[in-house]
Amino acid sequence: MTAPWDAGRVAIAIDRSQSTPITTQIMSTLRAAIVEGRLRPGTRLPSWLDMAAQLGVSRGTVKAAYEALADELLVYSAGAAGTRVAERAVPRLTEVKPIRIARPLQDLERGFSLKPLPFQMGVPAQDAFPAKLWARLRTRAVRANAMAPVGPTDPRGEPDLRAQIAAQLAITRGICCHPDQIILTTGYKNGLSLTLLALGAHGRTAWVEDPCYPVARMALTIAGLKPVPVPVDGKGIRVDLGVRAAPDAALAIVTPGQQAPTGVTLSPERRRALLAWTAREDAWIIEDDYLSELQLGGRAAPAMAADDPAGRVIHIGTFGKTISPALGLGFVVAPLALAERFGEVAGYLNPAPNVTTQLALTDFLADGHFLRHLRHMKSLYRERRDDLHARLDPSIAVDAFAGLAVIAHLPRGHDDVALAKRAPELGIAPCPLSVWYASPAEARPGLLLCVTNLRKQILDKACDTLAALIDDPAPVHLPARAA
Ligand SMILES: Cc1ncc(COP(=O)(O)O)c(C=O)c1O
Repeated sequence: MTAPWDAGRVAIAIDRSQSTPITTQIMSTLRAAIVEGRLRPGTRLPSWLDMAAQLGVSRGTVKAAYEALADELLVYSAGAAGTRVAERAVPRLTEVKPIRIARPLQDLERGFSLKPLPFQMGVPAQDAFPAKLWARLRTRAVRANAMAPVGPTDPRGEPDLRAQIAAQLAITRGICCHPDQIILTTGYKNGLSLTLLALGAHGRTAWVEDPCYPVARMALTIAGLKPVPVPVDGKGIRVDLGVRAAPDAALAIVTPGQQAPTGVTLSPERRRALLAWTAREDAWIIEDDYLSELQLGGRAAPAMAADDPAGRVIHIGTFGKTISPALGLGFVVAPLALAERFGEVAGYLNPAPNVTTQLALTDFLADGHFLRHLRHMKSLYRERRDDLHARLDPSIAVDAFAGLAVIAHLPRGHDDVALAKRAPELGIAPCPLSVWYASPAEARPGLLLCVTNLRKQILDKACDTLAALIDDPAPVHLPARAA
């Protein structure tokens, strides 16, 4: 098929004042015309000589542009029949519509890559992140990595980092493990996916806390398991109700340190009951230790993996809260008997995260920065939580300290999801509580107010905006943003 060359559809303008080479200018214009469909497949491009004469450039310049387009399979040389536009080698960009995915937490999060607002969950105190130190450690790590011989790396993660994490876990979480039980991940979700793959529990049921981090419920469903919600009370998950609802479940995902979102610590009796159930039913506990030692109300309870002689607990840790989610680093501690299996799954399906970031974190831990940072974050978050508590409008019923957030309960009938959806227009981003429950319609509505980024300078305005929002279920209009 031959389509005629139509110079009117491809206006090539050469700009000699630009730093972009002329070959690139010609190539970019032709490429855009091909990709956008203005030059149809089969169209014969003018000869090098004709094009060069039209544009007032050398023949070699045009030749180089055509060759570059041929390298991209956009044109081909047809010998005596000249250079022609290839059959659609790439999709027409104009035909590709943006592909939207169902965001895992669409009722909880505002969207991707937006500047955090006051009360927003899942963000650290950006102002307290040791940015200079981290930049220095990363630069050193980039250099070390670039100089190192290139070869396969351990899919479980860098051995030095795993040794450092094992040492920190002994101090902060009471866990005594061998570095080979540790597998580096990109964070909680990656740790969960590795664990579900390694356990091979497809088709089985799994307990989840009710309420719980909504990601856990959906992740189980995507991985082919059936989540069974098990209510939580003031002592944590109701093991008796779990046993009644699904005695033969393959596993339970729990947040024993600080239940998400209520903040309750799993009581010693419930811990024992949960472990006894796993022993009876050959089941597993997936311990989501998302806050690690970041316990604002005193000393953190030891992890469940710290007291697990039978090896039924898979401990998932993350540096997302203790340092920053921007690191994209977490880890799994596999029970000793499963360490080889987890390592193999990592080797085939779940390679370790970026080595440079791992090396920087190794130094951060080894040089004592991590424990110092944790201590600093705990006191800063405690101060921000107390400031918020003191400043919140007395009409707002606050009855719990939940991890790094405060729960503001709303009167029944309030639509917390609608409220949270409207809040960003006013410059705040509280998180609705009801969506953490398996049946949001039956849950008591509330707002989770994360304290991490509540700097003193923005506290007053953020609290006033919140009070106005709760007071007036209809849209409210405040003049300025709180952040
Ligand atoms: C209960 C719970 N688990 C895990 C995570 C996520 O951890 P990561 O930062 O590794 O994605 C969160 C984040 O808010 C959480 O609330």
